[in-house]
Amino acid sequence: MGEITVSTIQKSKNKKKLVMITAYDFLMAKIFDSEVDMILVGDSLAMSFGGYKDTLSLNVDTMIYHTQAVRKAITHALLITDMPFGSNNTPKQTLKNAIKIYKESYTDAIKLEGGTEKAQHIELLTQNGIAVMGHIGLKPQYVRYEGGYKIKGKDSKQAQQLLKDTEALNKAGVFCIVLEGVTQDVAQHITQNSDAPIIGIGSGAEVDGQVLVWSDAFGFFEEFKPKFVRHYINGAELLKKAIKKYAEDVRNKTFPSKEESY
Ligand code: KIV
Repeated sequence: MGEITVSTIQKSKNKKKLVMITAYDFLMAKIFDSEVDMILVGDSLAMSFGGYKDTLSLNVDTMIYHTQAVRKAITHALLITDMPFGSNNTPKQTLKNAIKIYKESYTDAIKLEGGTEKAQHIELLTQNGIAVMGHIGLKPQYVRYEGGYKIKGKDSKQAQQLLKDTEALNKAGVFCIVLEGVTQDVAQHITQNSDAPIIGIGSGAEVDGQVLVWSDAFGFFEEFKPKFVRHYINGAELLKKAIKKYAEDVRNKTFPSKEESY
């Protein structure tokens, strides 16, 4: 366990903005750990690491493997692991898989996508001592079902559903909720009506904190750039320059030098 606990996150509501980022491996997690409150082994792993077109192809064992790597790097942040698509269809299946992830990866908390329809599943986890982060709004695991990534909160029906989801998740005992791809006014309203801190992604500034996928934030994911992403560095460009230089040095025989040889 790192210094930050579930209770630290809950107590931050209305006090300080929370910072979350994804990581899928030891090296990145070690770099991010001291600067953030939470590190998420998200199922964005499928796209940002595995090269898949969406997040639907992961299984529980893959999430455990990556969480184990990230766990080894963390001394500060709270570690959260996503439940992959198909691992939480019934309350019983959700509990079985969440226990497996908890036991084998030493993660601090589980995240799963879904609102009212997943409230029973979540309640079963929280009643059994598993900390849960909710994820509502745009739910990437529904991309094929919905025929694309659709922003939520655009009409009053959607806004009301989001409020119902928020209420249901709070009642089920989540310690925090990710709110993805929601119009900013609705996101603000939800934040004001949730005891659990709301972590936004593409949901404006009036929420309790922000999460970004690391390879988006640092410019490594080149397939597409959603409007809400800010590139803090252009990672892909920097690495391309570095690999070009390495290849040149080998080919023109300037690497390795005498000092770099035994
Ligand atoms: O999988 C993921 O990285 C996520 C974040 C975008 C919140 O769910």
